[in-house]
Amino acid sequence: MTALNTGRSVAVIGSGAMGAGIAQVAAVAGYTVRLYDTRPEAVAKAIAGIASALEKLVAKERINAIDCASAVARLQAAVTLADVADAGMVVEAIVENLEAKRALFAQLEAIVAEDCILATNTSSISVTAIAAGLRLPGRVAGMHFFNPVPLMALCEVVSGLATDGAVAQAVYDTAAAWGKNPVHAKSTPGFIVNRVARPFYAEGWRLLNEQAADAATIDAVMREAGGFRMGPFELMDLIGHDVNFSVTQSVFNAYFGDPRFTPSVLQQEMVNAGFLGRKVGRGFYQYGDAAVAPQV
Ligand code: NAI
Repeated sequence: MTALNTGRSVAVIGSGAMGAGIAQVAAVAGYTVRLYDTRPEAVAKAIAGIASALEKLVAKERINAIDCASAVARLQAAVTLADVADAGMVVEAIVENLEAKRALFAQLEAIVAEDCILATNTSSISVTAIAAGLRLPGRVAGMHFFNPVPLMALCEVVSGLATDGAVAQAVYDTAAAWGKNPVHAKSTPGFIVNRVARPFYAEGWRLLNEQAADAATIDAVMREAGGFRMGPFELMDLIGHDVNFSVTQSVFNAYFGDPRFTPSVLQQEMVNAGFLGRKVGRGFYQYGDAAVAPQV
């Protein structure tokens, strides 16, 4: 297998932060993209957001107006899941929950063609477990993009135990055709980046709990003296505390409760409060018109 033929459409299931970014890079690369979400308003918001992001790129002369218009024209809202029946590849970017992903893939198997690749953007869930129980588990692979997708070059292509090597290679080649730098990885908890990143967040939480410094100071130190693009708290605000907390829980459970990966009670409270980060305007910091000051 090689990169997905641009004659086949890409279905993006889940049109939140990641789904919108994935749809954007696929559409810009020349693919027809069908976006589906259980909340139709999320699809409308994603398409409007992509159009506005691309128009900004036109204004900066990074793409031309014709390419922008054709990319936007390639975005189509799927009203029901059945509308993705002709997809050559599905990229799932729904909630980070194994049962939800399994249920979706089981539904998709009854809709898409036998040669359609089922890719998951999961950050941490076992690709082997997502594929288990499907009729054709060999066609499932991880296609793990990073946030914000249009800007972040890396894409982890994750093989579960049953993943067909040709499918992993096709996902790899498709990511490359979308302008990304793919790497192959095996399905281990957190894959490469989220595994290495867990202690970055965990030590940030420990420093905060011990009142060693406040969140803004820790972020500034990591950015200005540590050479990181973002500190742990501003990065968690970008990722979303709900997503970040689920990923930590998933890695913690997958390593049989290894204390290195213990989730933070404070982060759980932020999720309980709905302080999910940038996407809702409030996390550690406030976004929008409000002052940018740590809130926790
Ligand atoms: P999000 O919360 O922004 O969007 C998720 C979307 O999925 C929502 O619009 C929701 O309505 C929809 N949805 C939920 N269940 C659905 C279903 N059964 N069928 C169709 N749509 C459904 O979440 P985000 O941040 O886009 O994350 C999505 C996935 O991407 C998760 O698996 C997450 O772990 C992964 N991911 C997230 C990253 C991040 O930085 N936020 C980075 C890389 C991966």
